[in-house]
Amino acid sequence: MKQVVLKHKLDAAPKASDFMIMNADMPDCPDGGVLVKVKFVSIDPYVGHQLSKGHMASPPPKPKTDVIPGGIVGEVVESQSKKVKKGDFIHSMDGGWVEYLALHEDQFMKIDPRAAPLSAYVGVLGMPGLTAWSGVTQLARVREGDVFAVNAAAGPVGGTAGQIARMKGARTVIGIAGGATKCQLVEETYGFDRCVDYKSDSWQADYKAAAPDGVSVHYENVGSDQLSFAMQNLQLYGRVVLCGLAAHYHESDPAMTMIGPIVGKRAVVSGLVVYDFYSRWEEFRSEMAPWVKSGDIKFVEDRISGLENAGTLMEKLMNGRNVGKCVVAL
Ligand SMILES: NC(=O)c1ccc[n+]([C@@H]2O[C@H](COP(=O)([O-])OP(=O)(O)OC[C@H]3O[C@@H](n4cnc5c(N)ncnc54)[C@H](OP(=O)(O)O)[C@@H]3O)[C@@H](O)[C@H]2O)c1
Repeated sequence: MKQVVLKHKLDAAPKASDFMIMNADMPDCPDGGVLVKVKFVSIDPYVGHQLSKGHMASPPPKPKTDVIPGGIVGEVVESQSKKVKKGDFIHSMDGGWVEYLALHEDQFMKIDPRAAPLSAYVGVLGMPGLTAWSGVTQLARVREGDVFAVNAAAGPVGGTAGQIARMKGARTVIGIAGGATKCQLVEETYGFDRCVDYKSDSWQADYKAAAPDGVSVHYENVGSDQLSFAMQNLQLYGRVVLCGLAAHYHESDPAMTMIGPIVGKRAVVSGLVVYDFYSRWEEFRSEMAPWVKSGDIKFVEDRISGLENAGTLMEKLMNGRNVGKCVVAL
């Protein structure tokens, strides 16, 4: 069976040419676990970071040895688990860029293919969706009347966060994204009130026009001057969720930004690590899945087929050229 590994050690963001396919033996079904055929592999920014610098406690994978990690959706082909039977579908955050996986019972969750398209379980109903949901509902606690802003708004975290904020009663939802195509998606498909293109010269004026009295909740995915600007435009007692710093992941210096306004605005700033919410998968999916099924919450994918093309999609994500959730179909 095929699996993808690194060709060599990385000291910068991964490119398509950094990956290679290797053949491996089919794994055995573990005692009490399952053997799954992978259907969808999730390509996420944290994996890009992990490949060069490691992520949280996980070191970079060893070149020519370790499979590239990633969330997956798979079909059970053999089961020794009481949780699932052959033919069921599962989601796992302990997967990788590989055709077949052996998983222990605590490494997967059964998913319902009738509730949503299977690939949604690595996107809007997967880790990016959980990240958006926890930031909006548990940290910022968005409520009626909030003015909510989020950047990387065309992506699965940002796009979902804005739509959840709307479902929770936000009066105005503003996105920030790079380029006209992304902004059109954010306004027309995700239904934000306004999306500001930060590549345009007028983006700061456009943002102020969309939120003349400032924003009450800012959800940060990028950093850099977008974060500095957002901090200046917070309302008093504003709430800020620091979720991601995509503009800084491959810099050698830690991300820097203006912290002065935190004091002046009496702001509450919450750092978000989605792992803290892994005990809430069921609650999250039971609230989100009906919204996805009814079309109240929309999702868009940047999809490619075949493990041999996964590196190309990773390179696209690292350059911010992706539009929507990056997913590889096998
Ligand atoms: N804290 C957590 O537990 C957690 C969990 C999941 C994700 N995250 C973070 O949430 C953020 C969004 O994740 P996502 O999966 O939804 O990704 P995504 O939005 O699909 O992709 C990242 C986006 O960041 C933007 N970006 C701005 N400057 C960039 C740069 N210098 N290099 C690359 N991209 C840049 C690009 O959008 P524009 O062109 O529109 O700017 C790009 O499309 C990321 O920062 C991610 O690391 C955090």
